[in-house]
Amino acid sequence: MKQRQYLKDYRPSDWQIPHIQMHFDVQDAHVLVHTRMELVAVGDGTQTLELDGRQMALVEIRIDGEALSPEAYQCDDASLTIKAPGARFVLESTVKLDPFNNTSLEGLYAAGGILCTQCESHGFSRITYALDRPDVMSVFNVTIEADKGRYPILLANGERNAQQELPDGRHRVSWSDPHPKPCYLFAVVAGDMACKTRPYITSEGREVDIAFYCDHGIEERMDHAIDSLVRSMQWDEQRYGLAYDLNTYSVVVAGAFNMGAMENKGLNIFNPKYVLASPETATDADFAAVEAVIGHEYFHNWTGNRVTCRDWFQLSLKEGLTVFRDQQFSADCGAGPAQRIEQVKFLRARQFAEDAGPLAHPVRPESYVEMNNFYTVTVYEKGAELVRLLHALEGESGFRRGMDLYFERHDGQAVTIEDFLAAHGDANQLDISGLQRWYGQAGTPQVKITESWDNGHYTLDCEQSIPSNPSADAVLIPIRVSLLDSRGQAMIDGQVLRFDQPQQGFSFDLPERPVPVLFEALSAPVTWDYAYSQDQLKHIVRHAQDPFSRWEAAQRLYLIMIDAAYAGTTLEDQHLDVFCEVMVGEGDGAVIAALLSPPSADELTTRYTELDPLRLSQAVDQTEAALARVLGDALATQTQNLMEHVATYAFEPAAAARRSLRARLLRLWCLRGDQQAWQQAEQLYDNSDNLTDRLAALQALNQTDAAQRDILLERFYQTYKNDKLVLDRWFALQAARAGQAGLDSVRTLLAHADFDQGNPNRVRALIGTFGMLNLSALHAQGGQGVALLAEQILVYDKLNPQLAARLITPFAGLNGLAEERAAAVRKALQEIVAQASSPDVLEQAQRILGH
Ligand code: ARG
Ligand code: ZN
Repeated sequence: MKQRQYLKDYRPSDWQIPHIQMHFDVQDAHVLVHTRMELVAVGDGTQTLELDGRQMALVEIRIDGEALSPEAYQCDDASLTIKAPGARFVLESTVKLDPFNNTSLEGLYAAGGILCTQCESHGFSRITYALDRPDVMSVFNVTIEADKGRYPILLANGERNAQQELPDGRHRVSWSDPHPKPCYLFAVVAGDMACKTRPYITSEGREVDIAFYCDHGIEERMDHAIDSLVRSMQWDEQRYGLAYDLNTYSVVVAGAFNMGAMENKGLNIFNPKYVLASPETATDADFAAVEAVIGHEYFHNWTGNRVTCRDWFQLSLKEGLTVFRDQQFSADCGAGPAQRIEQVKFLRARQFAEDAGPLAHPVRPESYVEMNNFYTVTVYEKGAELVRLLHALEGESGFRRGMDLYFERHDGQAVTIEDFLAAHGDANQLDISGLQRWYGQAGTPQVKITESWDNGHYTLDCEQSIPSNPSADAVLIPIRVSLLDSRGQAMIDGQVLRFDQPQQGFSFDLPERPVPVLFEALSAPVTWDYAYSQDQLKHIVRHAQDPFSRWEAAQRLYLIMIDAAYAGTTLEDQHLDVFCEVMVGEGDGAVIAALLSPPSADELTTRYTELDPLRLSQAVDQTEAALARVLGDALATQTQNLMEHVATYAFEPAAAARRSLRARLLRLWCLRGDQQAWQQAEQLYDNSDNLTDRLAALQALNQTDAAQRDILLERFYQTYKNDKLVLDRWFALQAARAGQAGLDSVRTLLAHADFDQGNPNRVRALIGTFGMLNLSALHAQGGQGVALLAEQILVYDKLNPQLAARLITPFAGLNGLAEERAAAVRKALQEIVAQASSPDVLEQAQRILGH
């Protein structure tokens, strides 16, 4: 087992490497990598040098030009140790790599006919012997040499210097990156790809060649991504005064990719689903995701690359901040309030669940075995919420002052979260200690709010604690409130309360007793209780200014019904009658669609102790059915109204909002088992020119017994069977079928000719959907669903450990499960621990079991 790393053990490196020169010799079945590095001892120096390196064959090693005999160094499966000849010397190594059999998608690997790299967090030490840590920064020069027919395109970080023809149909290209960088930002790519370019001139007058690469024949699907990049570059110049700093910016679509994308300096490598988008092959949500991820990787150029992390415990320094920046960018591109609702749904479903269970960790973790297991929703999404919180405290101009000082102090450095907070604190004379505490404590704070009313004097009494972490200190929780009068007018409008004590009261003098609207836009990543009456909730749904708070009140109304159904009692449908007004109301269709959506079962797994997942799924279904009933005949009429004037597809906010409302209403209508609704769905499918509407039709039918469902699924398959990204949706739809039917589909599809274990998107579409989003199938048939997931995790433990370790998350709900369910999960985890070999999977399974 790998050694556990601790934040408290951090020590600066004994060595720095100002320069690295690398040469890649790409052969038919292997790659030779020659590396030349200048090592310089820091301070007094040290006589031993331990380099990281694994999964490669050492061919030769030289110091200052002299080959070393095997007695002069020690090599194990993770490192190479040598006695250094002095405080400054040149080390050269040659290693042989086998990228063609590297299924881990880390280091150098082949996928879809191209060779590419993934080095974050520790992939560089699978490419060459190195100091694989982010506080060692080097200037890189790279040459790549390969067969020109098979690999006409050869890319690395920075700028291209020279290209040279070689004998035997080979060629060589050299690149250099003038910016010192940590090796996790290193990248090379070799392959035969189509290219689309776009010139861009930065605010500083620099001429940049933007170049995007993907498989031949689908180049035009990169247009939206290229437009998004141009907008990102302009946005960072305008909002943060940050311009791009190289003359080349390349984006490569990888054949297979474990995560979303990677911000390698000047050479981003992407999961195809965050680059490729056309109306027929991507939904509105996909278009938005491309924009967000293109932006995210671009924004890393300053928050991540120019200023990087001192060590991997600081990961949220770059990820939380960059997620926040990409969220701001999407909002400025017109995403609207439904975007914030989506963010919060995701935060609650995934991050709150993580924070309440055995995989909980602070935004800045204290230790890890396998760093890849800490690219989590806590580090990313909770981290982004903390930056949002800082932004709310400082205001837009204060935040900008803080960022300016951060770059002024730390450009070119590898720093910590304290450094970031200190820059903001100093720039704004702000005490950041209450914010600082958030980073070191796991668990979601819970805020209990009670009130008193005394003759015009209104007090909100607040109490904070972290139920899963009782010794936690009080943190700074901004509570944004509005107080509504009986006509729905705000007597207090969006005031921010600074709540930073264990208990604290906030008073207001008011003409009448208000209905409080609390935590507008979710002003802090907490859960909160206030004993609303149903009438108060309806009052908020009707009158609140903040669309998010209307949605929040709607969720609470649905929850009253779900709780009742879960407890075995039923509420009258009339409980939901306010939604009849909502459906026909004016305004943003995407918000109305969200208001008409009860929380899904996967958002509620931490709500009940001794959770019975099947009963929960049923309770959610019953609530949705009640909603469909209470909307009455108007549901059919409204849906049909929205079917008319279907315009040619454009990814544009108003049109997307309309599609989203139509999809939601159609789905509710179809749930009523109405033949006419099912026919409407089929018509929408047939008449549409885009994937958004086609999937809307399929999703509307997916949980029904309509014959149209099977017919359309087959039609979908025939149309899209050669289109990888779209076919993923076909797998996901079937994996999302509720209950036993879903489990049966997953079994069948695992054996389907188009199921591809080497394509992580396909694996996530099938096994990820089943595990993460389909509680009733996962827990179907006694423990059979659970056993199936465990068996699949073990398959990927061998092939692709990072992917396998992520498939485990559904088992982290163990603590809250009813005993017989928990027993099935525990047994599955024990099986995994007995049989798994990757540190990735072992660490996760053991953490969940509490070892
Ligand atoms: N830094 C990448 C991002 O933009 C994520 C890369 C994570 N890769 C990994 N193997 N852990 O968020
Ligand atoms: Zn990132």
